Amino acid sequence: MAAKSSAAEHVPDTADLAALADAAQSCKGCDLYLNATQTVFGEGTPKADIMLVGEQPGDQEDKAGKPFVGPAGKLLDKALAAAEIDRSRAYVTNAVKHFKFTLPERGTRRIHKTPGRTEVVACRPWLLSELDSVRPDVVVLMGATAAQALMGGTFRLTAHRGEALRIPSDFTDLDVDPAVAVTVHPSSVLRGPPEDREKAFDGLVADLRFAAGLVSR
Ligand code: URA
Ligand code: SF4
Repeated sequence: MAAKSSAAEHVPDTADLAALADAAQSCKGCDLYLNATQTVFGEGTPKADIMLVGEQPGDQEDKAGKPFVGPAGKLLDKALAAAEIDRSRAYVTNAVKHFKFTLPERGTRRIHKTPGRTEVVACRPWLLSELDSVRPDVVVLMGATAAQALMGGTFRLTAHRGEALRIPSDFTDLDVDPAVAVTVHPSSVLRGPPEDREKAFDGLVADLRFAAGLVSR
C-alpha cells in the first residue's frame, strides 16, 4: 500500500517553536498547500499555559498568515476577555494549517470548506509538535474538527463539554499529557440564529472559564 501523505516527513526534530513554524511554511503533507496563500501556524507565547485549537484558517487568516484574526477571532477575543483569560498567556492554533475553500464559478469570494479526515490526520503532526514544544497545562479544542483531531474520529464534543479530559494514548511519541477541555467553535456562535447567540456565547465563555480552572499554578 502506498504511504499516506502526511506532514510527518516535514516536521523537523526540534522543540523550537520558531523553527517548527518556519518549517511548516514549506509543508506539502496534503493537497491544501496547492491553493491556499500560505501556511497559518499557531501563534502566541511559547510558554503558554493554555493552548486553544480551532479548525483551520479562514479567508482573512489565509491572507494575514495569522490564526483567528477574522470574525471568528474577534468573537474569540471577546469570549476570552469575558472568561478573564489574557490572550498573552495563550497559544492559539488550528487543527489544519492551510485554508480549504471552493471558488464558485463567477464568484470571487472563497467559500470555506470543512477539512476532511484525511487532511486532519495529515496535518496532525504539526499540532502534536506544537503541543510538545509549548507544553501547555490545558488544551481547549474548539469545534468538532479540533476535537476529533486529538480525541478520535468518533468523538462527540457536545457530550463532553465541561469535562476534564485527557488525550488518548494513541500518540505514542507525544511526551506531554495536558488536561483537555472541549467547546464549540467560535464561528458557530456567529452562525446560529440571532436569538440564540447570547446563550451560545455564554456557553463558550463558561467552557473557557472551566478550562482556565484546569491550569495548574
Ligand atoms: N476559524 C478557525 O478555526 N481558525 C481560524 O484561525 C479562523 C477561523
Ligand atoms: Fe501540510 Fe497541514 Fe498544509 Fe496539509 S494542511 S499541506 S499537512 S500544513
